[in-house]
This record gives sequence, C-alpha cells and structure tokens, in this order.
Amino acid sequence: MEIIHISAECYPVAKAGGLGDVVGALPKYQCRAGHFAKVVMPMYRTKFLYENEWDIDFKGQTYMGGRYFEYTIIKEKHNKLGFELYLVDINGLLDREKVYGYDDDNERFLSFQIAVMNWMNHWEHTPDIVHCHDHHTALIPFMMQFCYEYKKLSNTPSVLTIHNAQYQGVMGWDRGRYIPAWDGWKYGMLDWNKDLNPLASGIKCAAKVTTVSQSYLNELRYHSNGLEKLFEYEKGKCMGILNGIDNEVWDPSTDTYIEHHYTAEDVTKGKKENKKALCAKFGLDETKPLFVFIGRLVGEKAADILPDAIMSALYNMPRQLNFLILGSGDPAVERRLEGMMINYASVYHAVIGYDETLSHNIYAGADFLMMPSRVEPCGLNQMYAMRYGTMPLVRSTGGLQDTVVDMGDPGGFGIRFNHATAGDLLHAISRAVGLFDDKKKLESMRKQMMGIDHSWEATVDQYLNMYKALQ
Ligand code: ADP
Ligand code: GLC
Repeated sequence: MEIIHISAECYPVAKAGGLGDVVGALPKYQCRAGHFAKVVMPMYRTKFLYENEWDIDFKGQTYMGGRYFEYTIIKEKHNKLGFELYLVDINGLLDREKVYGYDDDNERFLSFQIAVMNWMNHWEHTPDIVHCHDHHTALIPFMMQFCYEYKKLSNTPSVLTIHNAQYQGVMGWDRGRYIPAWDGWKYGMLDWNKDLNPLASGIKCAAKVTTVSQSYLNELRYHSNGLEKLFEYEKGKCMGILNGIDNEVWDPSTDTYIEHHYTAEDVTKGKKENKKALCAKFGLDETKPLFVFIGRLVGEKAADILPDAIMSALYNMPRQLNFLILGSGDPAVERRLEGMMINYASVYHAVIGYDETLSHNIYAGADFLMMPSRVEPCGLNQMYAMRYGTMPLVRSTGGLQDTVVDMGDPGGFGIRFNHATAGDLLHAISRAVGLFDDKKKLESMRKQMMGIDHSWEATVDQYLNMYKALQ
C-alpha cells in the first residue's frame, strides 16, 4: 500500500511533542513491513532543513480564498529517515522557525493543507491511504470528498489519528471561504456549534478515526472539550491503537545522546553512572532517589501541581530525595518552578526550555518519572522511562492507564494514583521512596520494565490491518 502521512510535526525535522515522535517513526516501520509510506509536512526553518540535501519535487500555485499563493514541494534526497520525506514551502506562511504559536496558525495550516491537496491532485495516480494527524490536517478528509477541484481523490480512504482532542483548530465561519470551492450542502460536515471546527470535520468525514490509546477513546465520549456527542455518534468508526516507541532512537545500549550505555543486565550500574553525571551537572545528590518531570508545563500535564507536591515532599521527607524538572509552557508555572531553586538548591533543579539531549540523559539517569497528567491520550514519556529502567509514577488516565500496572497489583512495576492533586502525587512519591530502599526489588522491577515491548514493530500491524479493511 502507498500511505501518505500529513502532519504538522515529524521528528527529527520538527518536534513539539509526542506527535513528532509518532510521525517520525510509524512510517519507517510501515516501510519495513513492505509498504510505501511517506510523510509531507510544512517546511519550517529548522536545523534539519539546513543540514540535509533536498530535491525540488514540484512547484505549484493555488488560492486560499482570494489569496493567490505559490508553493514548492521539496524531497529529502537520501531517505535518511527510512521513508520519503516531503516539505511544503509557502512564503510568508510556513517559512518560520517554530511549529506553532503564531497569530495566523489557522491560515498557515489551512494553506498547507490546500497545497498538499493541490499537489496530490497533480499526481498521475492516487495513494491507497491518506493518513491525517490532529486538527492541523483534519480538513483534508472534507476537501477530498467535497471540494469540486479534488474529485479525483474522493474515493481514496482517509484516516484521522487524534493525538490530542483538546486542540481543535476552531475558527469563525468567515474562514469558510478559504477552503477551495466546496459543495455548500455539506456545510454541516465542517460545522460544530456554529463554528468551523477542523477536528470535528475530520471526525465526520474520515473513513476511520483512531485515537492513540483505547482508554483515551473511552474518555473522549465523556470529556473532549465539547465534542462528546460527536464521539458518541461516531463511535462505530473510531478505534484506539496504542502508540509504539522507536526502539532504535530510544535504546539505552546505543543512545548517542547518553554517555554510559547499559542493558537490562547491567541496569543498576548503568543507571548509577548516568545518575552520577546528571546529578553532578545540576548540583544534586546522587545517593538520594531522583524524581524527574519532562514535558510541556501545561494544565493537561498537571504541571501546576508540581511546586506544591515537591515542596511538601521536601518538607515531609527532608534530605531523603531530589527533584529535576525539564519543561516549558505556562509562564506562571515556569516562574514558580524556576523560583523554587533559590530555596531548595542541592535537592531541586529546574531547566526551563526544550532540550532533546538532556531529556535522554534524564530518562537514563533518573530513578522515578512523575506524570500526574489530567489528560494523557497516550503519553510516550512513561514508555521511554520504562525502556531506560526508570519507574513511572502516573495518574490513572488515558494511555498511562493502558501502559502502567501498579506495583501493588499482580505483575505490577509502576506506581499509579487517581487524582491530579499534590496530595496524590505526594503519596506516590512516598511509596517510591520506600521502594528505593529495597534495592533488590527495585532492580528486578527495572529489569521487568526494560523487558516490556512497546516497539512499533509490535504495533504496526494494527494500522496496516485497519488500512486493508478500508481498501
Ligand atoms: P505530548 O505530546 O503531549 O507533549 P508525549 O508524552 O506524547 O506528550 O511526548 C512528549 C515528547 O516530547 C517526548 O519525546 C518528551 O521526551 C519530549 N519533551 C517534552 N518536553 C520536552 C522538553 N522540555 N525537552 C525535551 N524533550 C521534551
Ligand atoms: C499528544 C498527546 C500524547 C501522545 C502524543 C503522541 O501530544 O498529548 O499523550 O502521546 O500526542 O500520540
């Protein structure tokens, strides 16, 4: 099958979170399984663009409403990522450094989708599957079916994967004219609560909708930022497929970002060496358990409860533990986390920013990873942590619930709690401190976690079978 993934992110070209990791890996494993998967994404001005070689694949022109624009599609020359990678350049809209966060993001992603449609419309053939990811590309299924210009693609099956339903790309109906001439009777396929809602449109128009874990899909029918009724109505075409992880990028025995390599066999020694280096770098104490958080400092991740939970832990269990935070997001949370360093030097450190290298070193050197998320569609951090023998402390929600079994339950290896509150997280931390003293048990759980197979090799067939059913 020929599968084209359309996405706003793809690691290592441009990544803001887990969406990038998934789109950077899934196509590679689909190609290895004997299919022809490719990725098309915007041509942001990132390091990867300047460090690699490109061919011009296509030059075109089209309209977004009354706005004429030209676009260029470039293709990475050597298939370095294990699949064909195409970037779309649109001057004035996509030629920016960051993926998101601009006032005209709606126009940027709309123009990107229109350019991709226009490009595919010029192909001599049609792909077997058009696979869209999140709201930035969720208008494609509508355009394939109801824009007169793209009739050629109307019989091609489209799939929408929802990585995060909190963000829906909602815009006013004044933008409806930006979409190339479409069948006005199909107004309802774009509308949700009197707004033009790309994510809702994708759910209505795609042949199949997937979410990145089964538990998240179940939750969406009760909490989905206004789309609850739509998920209930469309449940027949929705399915949950748990994300995999790229075991080649995330492998403590070969990881090029970390200094001391290890396997499950020598996990205690390997983690000790990495922890020593990490603690030395941030003035922390390598003899105490090290609790970490890596991620976006936003409400969904419950980053706002971290300061209280950490301060209570340091007050209740003085001199017994260390914390290290890596993240960026809400400025108020950033300021609180950064400010705490003054009072808690030598037991607490926060790095505000995005740092891929440091994140790998933290997974390798930490003892416990905290994920108190209010919403977690899948979560990759806990899977990376486990692969590096780091025990996750997670709230029982979404993908966290599907991947972590509490150590108190049969076969368990992690710590789960129910509420995204400082109190629940504190309780989880105290259970972890208890485990840290039981070195034998800790080592056996580390080995157990490292043996769990969350690789894409193990899950790629679920996508392929779903595509086949659509042919
Ligand atoms: P989400 O996509 O909701 O942010 P995931 O758990 O799916 O959450 O994926 C997060 C990804 O982003 C992981 O690869 C994680 O290591 C990475 N990440 C998040 N914040 C940072 C940061 N500040 N620095 C480096 N990597 C980060
Ligand atoms: C989203 C979700 C995260 C998921 C990732 C990849 O960003 O917040 O839980 O792991 O997408 O699917």
